[in-house]
Amino acid sequence: MSEPRKPSREITQIAGRPLRPSTLMMGYGYDPVLSEGSLKPPIFLTSTFVFESAEAGKRHFEGITGKRAGGAEGLVYSRFNGPNQEILENRLSVWDGAEDALVFSSGMTAICILMMAFCQSGDVIVHSGPLYAASEGFVAKVLGKFGVSYLDFPAGATREELDAVLAQAKAQADERGGKVAMIYLESPANPTNALVDIEAVRDARDAVLDRDVTPIAIDNTFLGPLWQSPLRHGADIVAYSLTKYAGGHSDLVAGGVSGTKRWVDPVRALRNTMGGILDPNTSWMLLRSLETLEIRMQRATENAIKVCDFLKDHPKVAGLGFLGLLPEGSQQDIYRRHCAGPGSTFSLFIRGGEAEAFRFLDSLKVAKLAVSLGGTETLASHPAAMTHLSVPPERKAQLGITDNLVRVSIGIEDSGDLIADFEQALAAV
Ligand SMILES: Cc1ncc(COP(=O)(O)O)c(C=O)c1O
Repeated sequence: MSEPRKPSREITQIAGRPLRPSTLMMGYGYDPVLSEGSLKPPIFLTSTFVFESAEAGKRHFEGITGKRAGGAEGLVYSRFNGPNQEILENRLSVWDGAEDALVFSSGMTAICILMMAFCQSGDVIVHSGPLYAASEGFVAKVLGKFGVSYLDFPAGATREELDAVLAQAKAQADERGGKVAMIYLESPANPTNALVDIEAVRDARDAVLDRDVTPIAIDNTFLGPLWQSPLRHGADIVAYSLTKYAGGHSDLVAGGVSGTKRWVDPVRALRNTMGGILDPNTSWMLLRSLETLEIRMQRATENAIKVCDFLKDHPKVAGLGFLGLLPEGSQQDIYRRHCAGPGSTFSLFIRGGEAEAFRFLDSLKVAKLAVSLGGTETLASHPAAMTHLSVPPERKAQLGITDNLVRVSIGIEDSGDLIADFEQALAAV
């Protein structure tokens, strides 16, 4: 691992009080003294970094190649690291309470490199379902080409069901001469919002498999890093599409991975070989985004609670899939144990079918008709006809991706204006 140049003084607590992430986002990991006093980090547009001496250059490469323990020291080459990326990685670690973090050119780059870093031919991946369609496709279609097989389980699986699928995966791996390389979760799942019991997955993994061989990774895009901290509930690695709430303005594409060094280091090694690191400009934009992350996510969530409160009893609404309105049951139990807030992305079931859902979408005046989520603006889309068009009908039915389903991501506009917009669009149905 490459150590960033250490800022001269890093204040992370005052009189024993640890500073909160929302405070640390304004300066953590950056020392103005190293950059001409500039309050904000400059954007470092350079492909390579000058060594202080030939001996220092040798030490770098001894670290990179593993000839010397401790990894690379300092900055070497921009495919491996850079100041903007390292500050961003440090700040992402703060949010997740993680030892280490990495940033990538997209959420999918992060997820693909994460999986590849731990798999080899003969191995088995176990994942929750559904996953974001591209993640599911990567496991089934791409890793499959390299001799990695998979088993999946429904997001709401019980401890008994988890034990059974992990035992089956272990038997399959033994037969193929491989290992269970990873348990990969997505919670809440895209697009159903179904939650996975991370603690139960951890307990099942510890009972059936070897925790030093099989890490638990989780895509925390929908609630993280504010409303869910999976590392505290038993996950080893957290993955993100930072394009969503972390970026938060629908103007960039990026990904992240965080966790303990033990699990992050192999991912870094593969990222640095393949070249999936985020660029300095986008890293800088994300640093700016993280300064307002808490207030954006709080406001969007407050708005979503108000909008869903309006929608829940509307005669043209057949149902709502919102974490803030879960009925009593196992999903609510997981929510209470794992989540600090419901986020602002939910499923809205319009009474009727595709025609009614389309009429609603085409009538929206404030909310924009677009895929993606987590931005300052409210977005709405139709998963069955758009993001999940390629999913076979039986799988769609199994996942509840119906023709009357509209997926909504609430932004930070005025909540009264959003309710007025939804009211007039429902009247047009
Ligand atoms: C849950 C989830 N994971 C991963 C991704 C992929 O992220 P990106 O588009 O940044 O590659 C998405 C994108 O929508 C997503 O919703």
